[in-house]
Amino acid sequence: MSIGWATIVPGTEMPAGDGVTGAIRCILASSGRSNFAAIVKRDAIQQVVAEAFCALLLRGWGAPVPDPYLVAEANNNVAFGSADATYPNLNQRLGIAGFAIGSAEHKAALEIATRLASQLPSAPLVAAADEAIDNRDRNLGNILWDGTNEAWIDHAFALGNGAQHLDDVNKLCQMAIYSGLSEEMRSASTAQWLLMDRDRPENAKKELDVFTDTSIQVRFVTDRLNQLGMRLLARFPTPQDLLSGQ
Ligand SMILES: Nc1ncnc2c1ncn2[C@@H]1O[C@H](COP(=O)(O)OP(=O)(O)O)[C@@H](O)[C@H]1O
Ligand SMILES: [Mg+2]
Repeated sequence: MSIGWATIVPGTEMPAGDGVTGAIRCILASSGRSNFAAIVKRDAIQQVVAEAFCALLLRGWGAPVPDPYLVAEANNNVAFGSADATYPNLNQRLGIAGFAIGSAEHKAALEIATRLASQLPSAPLVAAADEAIDNRDRNLGNILWDGTNEAWIDHAFALGNGAQHLDDVNKLCQMAIYSGLSEEMRSASTAQWLLMDRDRPENAKKELDVFTDTSIQVRFVTDRLNQLGMRLLARFPTPQDLLSGQ
């Protein structure tokens, strides 16, 4: 099976109104299905590849990620498309932007949001997956939630794309630690790592072969998967850290 190709229905583009890279909301046309609402991002090619590869990979591992598409544009450019989940991200959902930074309300909303994110049913799987793809950018704007269902988006800076400008952090692990759920996330995410199918990176590559060769991305993830247990454990405080007092 291959990833779907789509084109933007002319005249349907609107700003998506959030995020940092100029995502747009629009209607996509793709053969085999009726036109649908989507978010399209016109990024550098390595970010488009990371978005598509990670969406396919995380879906392969069972995480809810909106349907990914390659969007063919003028001059042979290719953008990344993601079917509109039709629900807001956690920042929007909890109105976090409406509170002054540092205010008691802002702090309270952040506490609710980080606790909520850490307790989403697929959070341990995604914490392990983020570690595998080196996603340093799992901020609250990249987690969609409709009150019941979650969806995980925005993998543009994974697979090494964020290595120069983003700190080496696993934000879902940090959120769990901040929420007092360190122990739960540590054991649940390492359990998920043991269950992760090691063939999925190769499957994602096969789906993308119609577009580009992602052997490098497969190797990147496979290498990290081999040491993922250690990497994940290192994200959490150890008894030694707790005793050191600093
Ligand atoms: N598939 C989707 N369904 C619903 N909303 C989305 C989807 N993809 C992106 N968005 C919305 O658009 C915003 C920007 O998209 P994102 O992929 O995070 O790009 P950026 O790189 O600009 O942060 C997100 O915070 C979210 O609110
Ligand atoms: Mg984002």
